[in-house]
Amino acid sequence: MANRGNFTGKLGFILAATGSAIGLSNIWRFPYLAGQNGGAVFLIIYLACIFLFCFPVMIGEIAIGRAATSDAYGAYTKLGNKRWGWVGLGGVISGILILSYYNVVAGWTLGYFIEVCFNNLLQQPDYKSHFFSFISKASTNIACAFIFLFITAFAVSRGIHHGIERANRILMPALLVILIGLIAYSLMLPGAMQGVKFYLIPDFSKVNAQTIYDALRLSFFTLSLGIGGLMTYGSYVSKTDNLIYASSIITWADTIIAFLAGLMIFPLVFSAGVSPAEGPALVFIVMPEIFHNMGPVIGKVVGSAFFLLLAFAALPSCISLLELPAAYFIDQKKLPRQVVVWLLAIVIFLLGIPTILSQGASETFTKLSFYKNKDFLTFIADITDVSLTVGGCLMCLFIAHRWKIAKLDQELKQGNEHYMKSVTRKYINFSIVYVCPVMLGILSVLIL
Ligand code: PHE
Ligand code: NA
Repeated sequence: MANRGNFTGKLGFILAATGSAIGLSNIWRFPYLAGQNGGAVFLIIYLACIFLFCFPVMIGEIAIGRAATSDAYGAYTKLGNKRWGWVGLGGVISGILILSYYNVVAGWTLGYFIEVCFNNLLQQPDYKSHFFSFISKASTNIACAFIFLFITAFAVSRGIHHGIERANRILMPALLVILIGLIAYSLMLPGAMQGVKFYLIPDFSKVNAQTIYDALRLSFFTLSLGIGGLMTYGSYVSKTDNLIYASSIITWADTIIAFLAGLMIFPLVFSAGVSPAEGPALVFIVMPEIFHNMGPVIGKVVGSAFFLLLAFAALPSCISLLELPAAYFIDQKKLPRQVVVWLLAIVIFLLGIPTILSQGASETFTKLSFYKNKDFLTFIADITDVSLTVGGCLMCLFIAHRWKIAKLDQELKQGNEHYMKSVTRKYINFSIVYVCPVMLGILSVLIL
């Protein structure tokens, strides 16, 4: 146990977990899903999901990790039994699959950074067709994904203390600053208010099952929940840390960044006359347009900073996705960290290739006959999203019926004297025992 490593102090864990949370889903996925699902209504349902389901699940997940001081599989077997271990193992596998495509999208941001900085991307006549031609180039994307995964693996191979903590310290504030700057800019554009209206004034006639499902899966994904990533990080947290406090910070930080990303993008979308329902390409179409309008020099500086920071935001998320399976092999199979990390990186890189080819390079992966002719990226994102909500549901059942609520109380009491008498405790226990398993169960079944 002694040499598993630990986060230093309260801040180490909070920063790493916040880094894991804040990522591509805040700036890439949230705006395009909100755009496809009616804007403001989506925002409201998303926020409801965060506070009704995600926050309690997050606390439960971190608490399990800290109580067990073990990887996700080990935690379920230690506090439960071998059968429950399958839930942990499912999470480990999901982590590998998510990273295989997440890393590819992170590669796009890196590629766009290079293109803006060195290749005059901002002089393109048509950003939409440029984006689609960019993602269809197999070799460029393989190179970008390779570089990104290499950096991730390097950080994880150096262990929890050196690699993972350090990568998280400087990047978050920089991201916040550039976001706020771009919001101010976008709000001043002609037609901006239409975007603000779309984003903040709900039209409830637009709600349907798809809206609710998209919001639910995004809320789990954005907070890195349900697959044991935060459980793994929780296993490195000191017993004197207040987990409720830490979870609130992680949740708020992530939610605020997503909210701000929407506030930046929708005024731009409307002022540029782009459709908000553009889909995954949204950020990559709208943002270059705006940097272009800033003029050649400023546009280049702000534009390359934007895509670089997006890549930076994705890095700690990738790191946490790799640490999840790495911890499993290190703890359970007693293999050395270096070996585990680099082997996993190779497997994940290879798994990412169909995703890369699915963006136009290969007909087979671009139109999956068994999946409504959708592409492989959509396929893998869809199946892994289900694993998050199902994983969250099973985790609540585990806490309520196997580990028991009293043990959760005991764990949360540490580092938080007033916990037993607090309203927070009632809310968390009620959510974990009743609200989450029932609602997540129903919704997961509906999706399947
Ligand atoms: N939360 C990350 C994001 O918002 C993605 C992620 C999901 C990271 C699951 C780890 C585990 O981009
Ligand atoms: Na997020």
